[in-house]
Amino acid sequence: MIYLDNAASTWPKPPGVSDAVKKAIDEFGANPGRGGHQLAVKAAQTIEETREKLARLFGVRDPNHLLFCQNTTHALNMAIKGILKPGDHVIITAWEHNAVARPVYWLEKEAKVEVTVVDGKDERADWTSLLEEQIRKKTRMLITIHGSNVTGEVLPIAELGEMAKKHGILYLVDAAQTAGLLSFHLDEMPIDLLAFPGHKSLFGPQGTGGLYVKPDVPLQPLLQGGTGNRSEEVEQPLERPYGYESGTPNTPGIAGLGAGIDFIMKTGLREIYRHEQELTRQLWEGLQAIEGVTVLTSAAPALPIVSFTMENADGIEVATILDQHYQIAVRAGFHCAALKHRSLKTEHGAVRVSPGYFNTKEQITAVIDAVREIAAAFKYE
Ligand SMILES: Cc1ncc(COP(=O)(O)O)c(C=O)c1O
Repeated sequence: MIYLDNAASTWPKPPGVSDAVKKAIDEFGANPGRGGHQLAVKAAQTIEETREKLARLFGVRDPNHLLFCQNTTHALNMAIKGILKPGDHVIITAWEHNAVARPVYWLEKEAKVEVTVVDGKDERADWTSLLEEQIRKKTRMLITIHGSNVTGEVLPIAELGEMAKKHGILYLVDAAQTAGLLSFHLDEMPIDLLAFPGHKSLFGPQGTGGLYVKPDVPLQPLLQGGTGNRSEEVEQPLERPYGYESGTPNTPGIAGLGAGIDFIMKTGLREIYRHEQELTRQLWEGLQAIEGVTVLTSAAPALPIVSFTMENADGIEVATILDQHYQIAVRAGFHCAALKHRSLKTEHGAVRVSPGYFNTKEQITAVIDAVREIAAAFKYE
């Protein structure tokens, strides 16, 4: 099987990840932070080691401002619902994943939060001016994706953050497609909150992710309950990170995430990006040269994501043929990005091919050849 659905979850994982998960289960499967015995302490140490590795990778001085979550969706919900209050106004873009769009629309309906959606179409637009024009007195937050999970295009987050800061509004970034692939120095960047997955470019297992929160940002926890500390109190403590990590954490997953980050540190972000870019360029050039295929970006995108539509064919059908006949795994449909597909006018969705670090040039050639054959077959249907 050729796996080209890395934008959903990277696979395979680097060597060491599954060993770290197994070790956490087999050797210290106790409950971290909930007991003073040696096994609980070892489990807690493992979690803190991963937090420190993340802090080094992301340029964060105090690891306690990195909160572990189950995935990006959990982190985004925590940021959105932990800040916005009735009467607030929030600005998002039309590139947002449903992990942002749905919670803000839910707040619009349930909590009288006003929502403005800005659509600059592609990455050449002047996003900063377009978003700035929508700021009002009541605007509390700007939320933008960093890189599109449909087209692989990137937004200028440093510039957007400066603009938000100038207006005194909070800036939340969805880094689902960029964390572990692009370089961040979060403490120095004008970003107040950043949600990230552990299971994509950070190479951790599913069930991992997190939220970075600047020290001075007032955040209400999404969940209340067992934090393992201050057990004598019925009030939720607001100390970071524990006040925001209620319930038993995913120790094996976080141990695996630590091994994924070790791999990135050893290999180098630059080398990972270079290889993925090479594959992306090959893929974009190959697909856009096929008759009957329309690639959704006019140039090879910055992120390893190339999506296309095919004349006379439904995306799901194309993906099913790739899966069943060619043993190639891609993702078709709307990619949990309803607003983006509306903007692209891809009423039937698209087929997304997303290479990862462990894919080869030969595999990219194989998918291009397969798509060419399928397009030729549909032409004569
Ligand atoms: C841009 C973007 N945001 C959010 C998510 C949700 O991520 P998770 O599956 O980690 O919740 C994804 C997942 O594909 C994504 O691409």
